[in-house]
Amino acid sequence: MNWAREWSRACARVVAAPGVALLVGAPDTGKSTLATWLVNACLQAGHRVAVVDADVGQSDVGPPGTVGLGYPAGPIDRLDQVQAAAMAFVGATSPARHPARHVVATASMVWQARREGAAAVVVDTTGTVSGRLGQMLKELKIAATCPEWVLVLERGDELAPILRGLRGRAEPKVLRLPPSGGARERSREERRANRERLLARYLEAASPLDLPLTGLGLVNSFWESDLYEEVPESEWQHLWVGLAGARGEVLAAGTVLEAHYGEDRLRILTPWKEGAAVKGIILGDMRVTPEGREAG
Ligand SMILES: Nc1ncnc2c1ncn2[C@@H]1O[C@H](COP(=O)(O)OP(=O)(O)O)[C@@H](O)[C@H]1O
Ligand SMILES: [Mg+2]
Repeated sequence: MNWAREWSRACARVVAAPGVALLVGAPDTGKSTLATWLVNACLQAGHRVAVVDADVGQSDVGPPGTVGLGYPAGPIDRLDQVQAAAMAFVGATSPARHPARHVVATASMVWQARREGAAAVVVDTTGTVSGRLGQMLKELKIAATCPEWVLVLERGDELAPILRGLRGRAEPKVLRLPPSGGARERSREERRANRERLLARYLEAASPLDLPLTGLGLVNSFWESDLYEEVPESEWQHLWVGLAGARGEVLAAGTVLEAHYGEDRLRILTPWKEGAAVKGIILGDMRVTPEGREAG
């Protein structure tokens, strides 16, 4: 049986018993493509469907460094047509730097989608499946999101350790599928260029927003010092940050243009316009120029 038939059958099975469907596979096996198939199949069946995009590097929903949640209203050709309705901030484009934050971000978006009444929640993930890190990430994502379905795209035996962990369980139901027959491998440079395209796209609608630094909550998992006053002002430049609201919800992401301690000002380039709603800043572990280039 060819891959497309197997994929169609898998979609039909999920449609018949919708729930959280976690997609797992190495890079370029077709996870994001399968996500669009699942979205379209669920929509056609009349299910309210959510997408959680946990691929923090090649982000289709929400900007890179975040886990986005969106509700596609009609059929899609590509996952990046799904608008982010909410996002969780990770602050890195690889899950390696802060796996706990990455997993919690994914889980928070999945549970929000469930809470908001999505019948099907399609969860796209990073291609990090190998080694201890890959195994740990998938194990923790499954533990934290409690999926009804895990769809694995297998090239060889790279997913054996993850599958081993699920053996004997009634849930999640595991569907083992071949990679997309049409999938194209992307080089490191292509991935980076695509990431920068996504960052630039996100910053297109951005403008500078000034926030009073002393009044802000500061979530810091990366800097040595918790006292920002000890950090040179220049350290802030181009830092990728999340803007958090009163309940810790992430309103938007942005890149720091300038910190000015003397004037108690943090200036951020972000599509978010409403400074009064921003109660906190989540520091990321990457730098992005105003043009959307990854820096230092
Ligand atoms: N059936 C297909 N026909 C044409 N292009 C495809 C097909 N499946 C995947 N691709 C392309 O191959 C690349 C990798 O697929 P993608 O779904 O993004 O994989 P992943 O999300 O696992 O990294 C993308 O550029 C995608 O557009
Ligand atoms: Mg993908």
